[in-house]
Amino acid sequence: MSILSDRIKQLGESETLAMAKRARALQAEGHNVISLSTGEPDFFTPDHIKEAAKNAIQNNKSYYTPVAGIPELRQAISYKLKRDNNLNYSPEQIVVSTGAKHTIMNLILSVINPGDEVIIPTPYWVSYAEMVRFAGGIPKFVKGKFENEYKITAEELESNISAHTKLLLFSSPCNPTGAIYSKEELLELSKILQKHPKILICSDEIYEHINFVGNHFSIAQIESMYERTIVVNGVSKGFAMTGWRIGYLAGPKEIALACEKLQGQFTSGANSIAQYASVAAMGDNLEPTYAMRNKFKERRDLVIELSKDIIGFKTFIPKGAFYLYPDISYYFGKANGETTIHDAFDLSMYLLNDAHVATVSGSAFGSEECIRLSFATSSELLIEAFRRMKISLDKLN
Ligand SMILES: Cc1ncc(COP(=O)(O)O)c(C=O)c1O
Repeated sequence: MSILSDRIKQLGESETLAMAKRARALQAEGHNVISLSTGEPDFFTPDHIKEAAKNAIQNNKSYYTPVAGIPELRQAISYKLKRDNNLNYSPEQIVVSTGAKHTIMNLILSVINPGDEVIIPTPYWVSYAEMVRFAGGIPKFVKGKFENEYKITAEELESNISAHTKLLLFSSPCNPTGAIYSKEELLELSKILQKHPKILICSDEIYEHINFVGNHFSIAQIESMYERTIVVNGVSKGFAMTGWRIGYLAGPKEIALACEKLQGQFTSGANSIAQYASVAAMGDNLEPTYAMRNKFKERRDLVIELSKDIIGFKTFIPKGAFYLYPDISYYFGKANGETTIHDAFDLSMYLLNDAHVATVSGSAFGSEECIRLSFATSSELLIEAFRRMKISLDKLN
């Protein structure tokens, strides 16, 4: 008998982390690896947020916090949701957790029964499918088309709804594609959802502030969707605070209470110092966030220019987040010596081994024909990475 549970054996490993691990191993062998694989801003946490954390330490904010978050933070999130999204959520509808990843897991465990179907527009963020399976749910992958920047249409949504559908789970801006659902597109989806009042929506808006095209729009802003939407957000991406581990959700009180109950048994309240820091992040000083977003936009423009030189990168211009997600199926069947490229994983490994550039295979996100390149790194490194990739890719024939 195995010492491990069936549950843990069935859980897939996060492929983004696995690739980063491999890149570190090559680096340890002395290779100069450029990592375009990670999903975090390369900026520092803004000073006013760090000050708030220092004050919290000085003021001995070192005790357990209320499970759902300190009142100041739940209030600040409520304020932010009104200010930025014109959404009304009372603090009781908000639960703070140890990162948005934890938030989403809390939500899934709170609403999914074995056999429930969860519609996941594909490509999707790595952890969604495993989280759903872990809860006994069935991920229902709905592939978006390249022509529509991989976003799903109302028809595609409708034809995948069944009597078992419990949840629609998506991110906008999207990791890995950088696509953003417009207000009009969300209205179209909502017309279908109106016909199915029991379906919940998890709107993952963690990249809200990394948006190159203008105002963020949340599906929760559509009146008929508000009651059954759970908005997920956090400080990781917009405030360069990945390591602080603060995420949150806002939604119906019943769901917030369920997540609080679950969290109360598993982890308790999130880190107290990070919560006090996050209160400052929810305040009105968004200058550092905007400066960071502008930098990401410059780099986005740079990688679009650089990718024009790479014949096998078929891509659209990402409107948000910090990823380029080219279709690289042009290289399938091509070889360099012993190495033949059969799929995105092969290409990603080839780029790591030959160009010493770490990327992530689209297979991690549910699409076999793409790779993900993160531009959360300096322009100099991006230029060098593209130079190396072009040399390696040109050797494939
Ligand atoms: C789409 C999406 N959602 C959620 C998360 C989780 O963010 P965190 O747990 O750092 O708050 C990430 C992080 O990569 C993400 O890309």
